Amino acid sequence: MANTRTPLIAGNWKMNLSLAEATALASAVKDAAAKYTDRDVLLYPTFLQLTRVAEIVKGSRVLLGAQNCSAEKEGAFTGEIAAAQIKDAGAGYILIGHSERRHILKESDAFLKTKIDRVLDEGLMAMLCVGETLDERESGRAETVVLNQLNAALSHLTKDAWKHIAIAYEPVWAIGTGKNATPEDAQAMHAAIRKRIALLNADAAPTTRILYGGSVKPDNVAALMAKEDIDGALVGGASLKAESFSELIKLAK
Ligand code: 13P
Repeated sequence: MANTRTPLIAGNWKMNLSLAEATALASAVKDAAAKYTDRDVLLYPTFLQLTRVAEIVKGSRVLLGAQNCSAEKEGAFTGEIAAAQIKDAGAGYILIGHSERRHILKESDAFLKTKIDRVLDEGLMAMLCVGETLDERESGRAETVVLNQLNAALSHLTKDAWKHIAIAYEPVWAIGTGKNATPEDAQAMHAAIRKRIALLNADAAPTTRILYGGSVKPDNVAALMAKEDIDGALVGGASLKAESFSELIKLAK
């Protein structure tokens, strides 16, 4: 049976781009996205560019997200940004648990679970990133690692909360390496994730979007997205240039 999940192509700009570059790129993405009403486009700029990008994409089909948020609601947490402030800036999504935050900044599963709750408290969408390292894949533990990450962050959710969840499967060894997972391997993991979601909340399994991330490029996106359980792409490097990201939007169906 054909699924009803709208394809979603998301650009994670990470810690890149000047304000002028971000402004120009957001305008170009807005124009590219306007041509395709059957897919969703989402941008994750840095915090400092969020309000500018929000102004640019206002009234368009382009969705806006932040790359992270504090695990705290508000108060004396110097340098942190609250989910409520992100909402206030006009964003609808927050990326939680990107592998760079799990591995470089040592964010734990328990900490990420708290962040998920902060996002949901504000009624925003949380996009949870999960993914195994090369060592974990080569030792046959990839699926266990990924499903444990999923359980740790989401198994406590109420049925209603699942409407505010998206997942991004990003194998750590594929991020920024030019080495993407094969469509078959990615599909196998996406199917395992969906099966686990079904155990946690049967209603959410057919509707929750599961994106693939890790060296997505115009020349591999179509084969990945042709797979039944791959509902979109979370793109790093190729989202930083108007030409390649516009091409990805075009091919992401
Ligand atoms: P690349 O597309 O550069 O491999 O990055 C993927 C990623 O980490 C997106 O969040």
